[in-house]
Amino acid sequence: MKRNILITGGAGFIGSHVVRLFVRKYPEYNIVNLDKLTYAGNLANLKDVEDASTYRFVKADICDFERMREMLREYKIDGIIHLAAESHVDRSIKDPFTFARTNVLGTLSLLQAAREYWESLPEGYAGKRFYHISTDEVYGALEMTHPEGVEPPFTTAASSGSYHLAYGMEFFREDTKYNPHSPYSASKASSDHFVRAFHDTYGMPMVVTNCSNNYGPYQFPEKLIPLFINNIRHRKPLPVYGKGENVRDWLYVEDHARAIDLIFHEGKIADTYNIGGFNEWKNIDLIRVLINTVDRLLGRKELEDLDLITFVKDRAGHDIRYAIDSTKLQRELGWEPSFQFEEGIERTVRWYLENQEWLDNVTSGEYLRYYEEIYANR
Ligand code: NAD
Ligand code: TYD
Repeated sequence: MKRNILITGGAGFIGSHVVRLFVRKYPEYNIVNLDKLTYAGNLANLKDVEDASTYRFVKADICDFERMREMLREYKIDGIIHLAAESHVDRSIKDPFTFARTNVLGTLSLLQAAREYWESLPEGYAGKRFYHISTDEVYGALEMTHPEGVEPPFTTAASSGSYHLAYGMEFFREDTKYNPHSPYSASKASSDHFVRAFHDTYGMPMVVTNCSNNYGPYQFPEKLIPLFINNIRHRKPLPVYGKGENVRDWLYVEDHARAIDLIFHEGKIADTYNIGGFNEWKNIDLIRVLINTVDRLLGRKELEDLDLITFVKDRAGHDIRYAIDSTKLQRELGWEPSFQFEEGIERTVRWYLENQEWLDNVTSGEYLRYYEEIYANR
């Protein structure tokens, strides 16, 4: 079936993987990638699909309501996959207004434009879908409930959360109460509420997903994994917040993109799905894996660069543990992660080591000045 799909934030990390998947897998669809190209958006992420005849790029700000109205009509958009956002917690602590503007008002602007356009059509909302991509961080933080002596990593993707079940550990479910702590997660929570309110008030056919931490190629090197791979390579200090005890649940980005494809097509309207890897790691253990992998691939001595680990002041409001229960998605739509962590991390490290030019391009200019300022204040 012919469809006209708008993907917002398609020049960013996850968005670029979603655009690539859709352009390649659905040659019968027209794909419009709308992105403001902030510091995090980079069209170099999409070099391999930019010449496809079914692909268009539009440089625009989702907060520009008039522009959103025009472009939805111009491209006769019938499906929206909304990823555009400010996404880095540390930046949100420094500049919360930008997060409220883009994540809350930008999402509202897109919702309202979609509502006006779709309600003006003879068929109304029939065959339409607004898919909002959100994060597990809206749920707040989980306790470290594993018993003494049983420590993460819990990499149980293949056995679907057997650690959690065996040890009665807590994790985020679709009905977990929202309890965001950072300006980033507060802004994402607010946007989720607006999306659901548009369904309840106007009948907007929407779906929301909340995903755990992603990793893989094309992630901006301000986030833990690409930043640390690059620093290990160049033997720069690795700034570990607090004691490195915080736990994150890591999912390979292509598995997230596959879940988005499935849910866009088959997810139930007005429903929520959690997406995660059943793959919990303490930061410090994950960092050791990164050091080990980079050193091995560069032919250095095993764990030669452990002394780069530098404990720095903790992040304000630093959530102790995130862990997603994605059994609903597995049960109802048959999705599960296809990459084991070892394979995903090996691919990821190799990609950054082989794409130094990409890293150099994105780490020049504004990015460096920004971080100089942040670290000067620590
Ligand atoms: P990213 O920061 O890499 O990319 C965001 C993209 O949005 C960039 O291309 C940027 O230019 C664009 N953008 C920002 N403001 C815009 C605006 N006002 N108008 C138009 N475009 C704008 O982010 P990401 O890591 O790819 O995350 C994508 C989405 O997935 C976000 O909504 C994020 O909250 C969510 N998410 C991310 C993770 C993760 O681990 N990275 C996990 C769960 C959910
Ligand atoms: P990050 O990649 O920023 O993702 P999020 O905050 O959305 O989970 O950080 C992942 C974890 O790594 C988080 O617990 C904070 C920690 N961290 C550091 O210890 N040092 C760093 O320089 C960064 C960027 C993150």
